[in-house]
Amino acid sequence: MGNKVEAALLSHGFNLNKYEETVLEYGLSDVWNFLTSYLIENGVDTFSKNIVDFYDIGRLYEIGLAIENKYSKKEAGKYYTPRDVSKLMADLLIENNQLNCVADVGCGCGNLIIEVLSKIKERSLDEFNNVISNLYLFDLDKTAINICKARITAMFGVDANSINDVCGDFLSKTIKVPNNCYIISNPPYSQIKEIKKNWEYKTAITESKDLYVGFIEKIIRSSKKAVIVSPQSYIVGSKFGKIRNILFEKGNGDIYSFDNVPGTLFNGRKQGVFNTNTANGVRASILTFNNSEIKGFRLTHLIRFRTDERDNVININYVKEQLGTKKQDLKRPLKCFKELEFFVENIESELKISSLLAEETTDYCVHVNSSARYFIVGSSKQLSRNGTMDLYAKDEESFYKLYALLNSSYAYLWWRMLDGGILIPKSLLLDIPLPSNDYLKEDVVAYCKDLIKNEKKYLVYKKNAGVMQESIKFPEYCREKLNKMMFGNIPFELIHSNKEIF
Ligand SMILES: C[S@@+](CC[C@H](N)C(=O)[O-])C[C@H]1O[C@@H](n2cnc3c(N)ncnc32)[C@H](O)[C@@H]1O
Repeated sequence: MGNKVEAALLSHGFNLNKYEETVLEYGLSDVWNFLTSYLIENGVDTFSKNIVDFYDIGRLYEIGLAIENKYSKKEAGKYYTPRDVSKLMADLLIENNQLNCVADVGCGCGNLIIEVLSKIKERSLDEFNNVISNLYLFDLDKTAINICKARITAMFGVDANSINDVCGDFLSKTIKVPNNCYIISNPPYSQIKEIKKNWEYKTAITESKDLYVGFIEKIIRSSKKAVIVSPQSYIVGSKFGKIRNILFEKGNGDIYSFDNVPGTLFNGRKQGVFNTNTANGVRASILTFNNSEIKGFRLTHLIRFRTDERDNVININYVKEQLGTKKQDLKRPLKCFKELEFFVENIESELKISSLLAEETTDYCVHVNSSARYFIVGSSKQLSRNGTMDLYAKDEESFYKLYALLNSSYAYLWWRMLDGGILIPKSLLLDIPLPSNDYLKEDVVAYCKDLIKNEKKYLVYKKNAGVMQESIKFPEYCREKLNKMMFGNIPFELIHSNKEIF
């Protein structure tokens, strides 16, 4: 079989079309049996030259899974970690620690563990040898584990038999993690329909029905330190209260959050043999967790970077610089720019935006476009478009308060700190606390009246799915003027930028 696969894949050189045909004819497992032997026999350089770059093996395997279509790729949640993200996570895992036992949970083809081992080997051969004798790979997919082991063998000359691999459902009670281990993981992301009887921890996953949440719970309950990349829904959504409580109960750490537009964390560069679109647009975050009596998590703002900023942003020095100073209990995680922490901490009001609203319709309605990519707009004009909400203020003063909070940076700041997706839900908007100072001065009311008069002047139109959508786009200086009148000199421009580095 090996010879047939070899002939099919390599005669006249490897390319993606042949890979596809060979996977369909012989199956992914046989194709990779051959490719892993080829890697071990010929070494990293020859493999990179003749097949695919050694660091793109995970991606080639992922394409194979999609080709084979054994199960929907999305459901299996198999997205390889791009190399820059893997390096960043490895740096975060090994900094300030001498490692002994290391595990990669959902190791796949080993993108994460390979970077961890490379960095440890670079700093100490003794530490590397210790780690190699206490290395654990967990995955459900036997072929992926074999690829991972072959890569470690080819890269570091390590005997594959000395690596502990555990093939099976990581959430199962029967799968144990060694004590005091350092864990790195990019767990699978998918919604689950049933809670399996044999799972070890069911609390957080039952609440959220997200597979990755089950992985986070088991990892933090069994590790000394962990670095996990996952969707950031667990610090945003209301159905993740349990996992956040467990995180806080078990220790401390940092959470680095990334927006998915313009650049996205999982968007590897497309080059060479790859021209397929395998980008994963999930809004991701990287969690570092230390099992400890000291509690609390520092968070970054929602890092929004352009693809051309990637190298400057996805590195340990840059991301650590962005951490806030405050340790949060994760009851209501705030992804706040550290430059805005002082402003946010001084908001003490018990009252929420909801306190400005009437229960029934009134003459004082503010219409809000619920799509909030770079700013929020509230208007007195009813817009001709989909996706607006009508907020009825209880009186004239409340109307101007509402109008000012929506068209300044204030409501948008809370939106970015609490969520930051594309659509702003009404419930989140109404739950925003009111600013504590006297923000509705006479000049603010006068300026809001001016803006209302000019709403028509700033109408813009865009076609969406064949239907024209009307919006208002006030010039930036209007928002800035309102901000200044209401709050003084606060660097709100940070939250509206579509790039990360100024
Ligand atoms: C998002 S991929 C990450 C792959 C690799 N670690 C990387 O970062 O490139 C998730 C991995 O989890 C594995 N997986 C899915 N469900 C699993 C389960 N229940 N138990 C263990 N591993 C699982 C998949 O086979 C896949 O390799």
